[in-house]
Amino acid sequence: MTSLLAQLRDRVALALAAAFGDEFADTDPLVAPTNNPQFGDYQANVAMSLAKPLKQKPRDIAQQIVDRLEVDDLCTPPAIAGPGFINLTLRPEFLSEQLQACQGDPRLGIEPVKRLQRIVVDFSSPNIAKEMHVGHLRSTIIGDCLARVLEWRGHDVLRLNHVGDWGTQFGMLIAYLREAYPEALRTANALALGDLVTLYRQAKKRFDEDDTFRETARTEVVTLQSGAEDSLRAWQLLCEQSRIAFQLVYDLLDVSLNERGESFYNPMLPDVVRDLDRLGLLKTDRGAQVVFLEGFTNKEGDPLPLIVKKSDGGYNYATTDLAALCFRIQRDGADRIIYVTDAGQANHFAQVFQVARRAGWLPATVGVVHVPFGLVCGPDGKKLKTRSGDTVRLQDLLDEAIARARQDLDRRLQAEERDESEGFRNAVARAVGIGAVKYADLSQNRTSDYIFSYDKMLALQGNTAPYLLYAYVRVQGISRKGGIDFTQLADSAAIALTEATELILAKHLLQLDTAIAAVEEELLPNRLCQYLFELSQKFNQFYDRCPILQAAEPARTSRLALADLTARTLKLGLSLLGISVLERM
Ligand code: ARG
Repeated sequence: MTSLLAQLRDRVALALAAAFGDEFADTDPLVAPTNNPQFGDYQANVAMSLAKPLKQKPRDIAQQIVDRLEVDDLCTPPAIAGPGFINLTLRPEFLSEQLQACQGDPRLGIEPVKRLQRIVVDFSSPNIAKEMHVGHLRSTIIGDCLARVLEWRGHDVLRLNHVGDWGTQFGMLIAYLREAYPEALRTANALALGDLVTLYRQAKKRFDEDDTFRETARTEVVTLQSGAEDSLRAWQLLCEQSRIAFQLVYDLLDVSLNERGESFYNPMLPDVVRDLDRLGLLKTDRGAQVVFLEGFTNKEGDPLPLIVKKSDGGYNYATTDLAALCFRIQRDGADRIIYVTDAGQANHFAQVFQVARRAGWLPATVGVVHVPFGLVCGPDGKKLKTRSGDTVRLQDLLDEAIARARQDLDRRLQAEERDESEGFRNAVARAVGIGAVKYADLSQNRTSDYIFSYDKMLALQGNTAPYLLYAYVRVQGISRKGGIDFTQLADSAAIALTEATELILAKHLLQLDTAIAAVEEELLPNRLCQYLFELSQKFNQFYDRCPILQAAEPARTSRLALADLTARTLKLGLSLLGISVLERM
């Protein structure tokens, strides 16, 4: 089914060409949904943009378009408003037809993309032996959502976890392992290492306090990088134990990832530097091998260097990202690469992209984009910390969300005098708790910081996961109460839209494709959240105004069909956010 928006665009484009000649056939007709029903459902703003090239008044242009606009099958007669807006109002019969066409379709009328791309989404990417912190939580939640949307659109998505599993911190860690955990090393028992964050802190303490230890740590880095078997085993042990801890979080979040850490690119790093040298891009700057950047300057106005080989001979984060970029283009065949990290890394990526482009490694056909996000803040508006000032452990944060969801649930069940099993309570608490954390993150414009508040995200009212989940549950409640099997209704129910709330809901239902397309194009999950929130609101207004089970036929079936479509739209939309629905809560 062609999207509503696309159909309207095509019609206006045809009218444009008919009015002003074929050279205007490709002009963007600037059709968009209106925010105010007073201006119809959609508005075409192209007349204003043509005033200059056509040297005519926008209102006259609008009139000429409207005279040739053939939309009788879709809309009531178009109206011209203000300086030259063309207002389009959809006809109820057309809306009914469109919705009926969605009923039997599991994709709700949205076709997969015609030109599918190979897309790498680089997200989550925590660092081994360090805490997976709230920044990684955001990356995980946002990256997973983007991957889900792109996959659903039909793209071939490679989800990559670029874990920080290489680097100088390992010298310190391995040196400490040898000293404090010889037994774990000997038996290669990763679990015996316990919590790696504690281990990291202890190692760091030794490193900061003891000169000899510091020296040992330095030599250990070199030994590891030279590939000494014994050191590699210790390194593997650390990675393994980290992996176990990360996986617990991924399982809780229901996120899947392919681990391909920094170490994977290790063998390719010397070639990166050699090739930059051959291309004449490499310079020596205070002993380091660098590429001087265009458009990045220091206070004196001199170009800044991107270091690719440090003066001690080691490679760094940027070298690895250059190697990874090449690998993903040449070997993975990526058409598009999306990096999801905090906004603080914007310069890093801009610099890596620039160097890759100048080196000829980044063809114009490949899109690379950094998807930045803001901080997760505590109630004080500062970066989220525990009461003692430590970084918050993700596992703890998620467990707490689930525990609080459970408390809310128990209280509500008691008030409603409902007797539910422990299994039910746990399942609901988990879905609501995790869903709430995800939704709180995704519903913000990702570029802004947001304040993490359990109370807010778990509230049953407002733009929250529980509010959306509840709208879904309401529909399932209707089906249970009326003994209705929605699947029986699916393909055939006639939809007749008479009440205002029905029309509003119907129109909104048909805009799902626009919301999903916005996420795909702008990589902004909050666009889909906003859509689903408004859908829930519009459904609730419809539900309050229009009796469903008590209505006489044909309204009854029509309303049941509307409710079912709402539920299916919510379920699909939430699944793209990585949130699963509940049948009861
Ligand atoms: N490990 C990095 C961090 O914790 C994120 C890596 C992001 N991906 C990349 N290709 N640089 O900040």
